Amino acid sequence: MSEIESRVKDMAAHTFGTWNWQKNWQQPMLIKDAEGVYFYDSNGKRYLDFSSQLMCSNLGHKNKAIIKAIQKQAEKLPYIAPGFTTEVALEAVETLRSIMPEGLSQFFFSTSGTEANDGALAMVRQSQAPAFKVISRYHSYHGATSAGLAFTGDPRRWPMERVRYTVDGVCFAPDCYCYRCPFGQTYPDCKVQCARYLDYMIKEEGNVAAVIVEPVVGTNGRLVPPPEYFPMLRKICDENNVLLVADEVMTGWYRTGTPFAMQNWDVLPDIMTTAKGCTSAYTPLGITATNKKVADFFEDEFFCHGHTYAYHPLSLSAVKPAVGEYRKLIDSGLTQKVSKYMKERLMDLAEKHPCVGDVRGLGHFWGLEIVKNRETKEAFDVKADKLSGKPLMTAKISGNAMANGLYVVAWYDTLTIAPPLIITEEEMNEALTILDQALEIGDQEADKTGVAVSMSSEF
Ligand SMILES: Cc1ncc(COP(=O)(O)O)c(C=O)c1O
Repeated sequence: MSEIESRVKDMAAHTFGTWNWQKNWQQPMLIKDAEGVYFYDSNGKRYLDFSSQLMCSNLGHKNKAIIKAIQKQAEKLPYIAPGFTTEVALEAVETLRSIMPEGLSQFFFSTSGTEANDGALAMVRQSQAPAFKVISRYHSYHGATSAGLAFTGDPRRWPMERVRYTVDGVCFAPDCYCYRCPFGQTYPDCKVQCARYLDYMIKEEGNVAAVIVEPVVGTNGRLVPPPEYFPMLRKICDENNVLLVADEVMTGWYRTGTPFAMQNWDVLPDIMTTAKGCTSAYTPLGITATNKKVADFFEDEFFCHGHTYAYHPLSLSAVKPAVGEYRKLIDSGLTQKVSKYMKERLMDLAEKHPCVGDVRGLGHFWGLEIVKNRETKEAFDVKADKLSGKPLMTAKISGNAMANGLYVVAWYDTLTIAPPLIITEEEMNEALTILDQALEIGDQEADKTGVAVSMSSEF
């Protein structure tokens, strides 16, 4: 073992690996460099980043404008308590007001997506009292702190329910998951039952303060709703005096084509949370944005929430340059052109590989659902398998891709195709060639029957 390998092993032995069995956190890959859509390990091996790390490095790696702005702020004023304000906060707020959906104009700053959701919960519960319940959906991830995890439907909530799950009054609604409709129906004959059921649920539950949704479900499937879903949900929330909270931590910042995903359906939430792409992950920042009604409530109320690192100048320093870079990129037309191309090529891959059941997504945010049998939709692995330690088919596929120089995030049933928005057609071809080969691992164990579908492309 080389000296550096031994230091890595030592480091791992003295730290906790995230979301992992600690026996598997022994020799994490040492990353030495990253640039554009690539990152490099300590042997100089290159990997194409097909998931923007954790769907956050939207502008790719080593963006000079962002790095410069952070450096400048570090020299000028790296920290000051959040009770003061700074020039960089003025700039960040001015920038956000120019890009946020009109009507969301009051912001709270934290340092992560889960904290942005914690902030949203404080706003919901204080402003909607005595109503206190929050409806989330089973296919969802909203973070690892108490509020974020309590809202989370995915299996990471299960082991934590008695450990850290301290937020009461969270109920889960059936998903907007057309490939495996929880109501056993088919769009459009279903008349969007998943939205209509929320009206029933709100009325029957009572005391519902808010509904929280990922506009396109991220980690848990890239579930794109039919066009009627969000207009219907907006109306249901209004009629029942319930706040609509859109968690755009992953879907924001042009990931789905528009600056924020709810704009695909022209629906304005009451509260929007975001993080990740707001700085392209160069600095840790969470944003909770509200409409005037929620903001006004706190004029004569004590906003009982805050952090030492709220409004952190270094976090905020990346907002203005990141937005500038997004605008330049969108003006160039590259992202739009490549996302159209990526969609077509992913459809081709799905057709070719028997292990791909559904291909769905929007913009630069796609998922391949990996199945054993596409006729019956039998899965290789299900939710509970994520926690069982069983080797998952998606992990085998992504492991093969990684060995061949492609990083692609795998969940228990889907692969996450979410490259940086700067990816070129040539780089896309390189990625898809490696993915094409990796999918053969799934094909070997899949039944060669049925055809792939693409639910979202039918909307
Ligand atoms: C939709 C969504 N909400 C919240 C979070 C939590 O964000 P963070 O990990 O920055 O706390 C995530 C993280 O992946 C997410 O995808």
